[in-house]
Amino acid sequence: MAIETLVYFSLHDPIEPWRDTLAADLPDVVVRRPEELTPEDKVRYALVWKPPVGFFEAYPDLKLVTILGAGADALAGRTDLPDVPIARLSDPNMGRMMASYVLFAVLRYARNIHLMEIAQREKRWGYIHPREAGETRVGVLGLGELGGYAAHELVRQGFDVRGWSRSPKQIEGVACVSGIEALDPFLAELDIAVVMLPLTPDTRGILDARRLALLPKGAKLINAARGPLIDEEAMTELLANDHLGGATLDVFAKEPLSPESRLWSLPNVLITPHMASVAIPQSAAAQVAENIRRVRRGEEIKSRIDLKRGY
Ligand code: NDP
Ligand code: OXD
Repeated sequence: MAIETLVYFSLHDPIEPWRDTLAADLPDVVVRRPEELTPEDKVRYALVWKPPVGFFEAYPDLKLVTILGAGADALAGRTDLPDVPIARLSDPNMGRMMASYVLFAVLRYARNIHLMEIAQREKRWGYIHPREAGETRVGVLGLGELGGYAAHELVRQGFDVRGWSRSPKQIEGVACVSGIEALDPFLAELDIAVVMLPLTPDTRGILDARRLALLPKGAKLINAARGPLIDEEAMTELLANDHLGGATLDVFAKEPLSPESRLWSLPNVLITPHMASVAIPQSAAAQVAENIRRVRRGEEIKSRIDLKRGY
């Protein structure tokens, strides 16, 4: 059995769970960090999260690159990529984790928990009569693997769920519209906007000052996708002057969010440190292994990134 090597790079995710899970599925592939490689290693595969520029030059025989996450933006625009298929992670458990974040954030607003948190701090019995879920209009921008999962969960909770994507979609219980011309009217009728778009040349800054102002007064914004999708300055202003009633933000134009950012101290903002969903080796390794087997058999891989499209 010829042993091949998968080179692993991430500054955050530990290598050990990937080693263990991949070894169980593919005993003829060893998983090593760049600094562990020896001249005997036949590096054919890479599993990476934000590798340094020039990283791939050292591995001229690569056949497959897998991004250690769902978003392709950190790789898609680069000019130092090898000419091999690039896959993203595609794992229903990652979708479920994202959906739980979105559901938490939506329910917190829909049940007015954010106002009760304030009332508690003021030792006030802040009773607000609950609304029926169907009275809250929740719009999901981006109906892909994670956004689509989140939309399903919101439907299960009985919300009035709407969705916007690039191409037309049919999702049970979700009023779907598509295309840039549908975006402005879509935004104008939401109580809660959930941003689940990939960051691409087309979507960078898509929620600019004009579009953010189209959201009805008091609307809430949830961004668990990428910071640069939104004009952060304009969003901050609209939150400070209460046009936006609140925001739950997991991602920012620059991460970690600077201590200087006004967002930290706005009372209607909840900040989480880019943790809405993470790669789960125990379930995602099966997809990495399956794609390696496909490459070996000369078949098309699953969850391939379209570099032109950017996701
Ligand atoms: P997918 O690539 O599966 O889906 C993207 C969706 O966005 C699709 O519905 C697509 O439309 C739509 N879309 C793309 N471009 C446009 C456009 N120009 N106009 C309208 N719609 C568009 O992504 P996922 O759902 O898997 O993930 C979304 C993002 O979440 C990731 O790209 C990543 O940045 C972020 N993420 C954040 C994490 C966190 O912890 N905060 C964790 C993981 C991911 P169509 O269906 O027509 O192609
Ligand atoms: C991802 C992320 O894209 O963690 O997977 O943001």
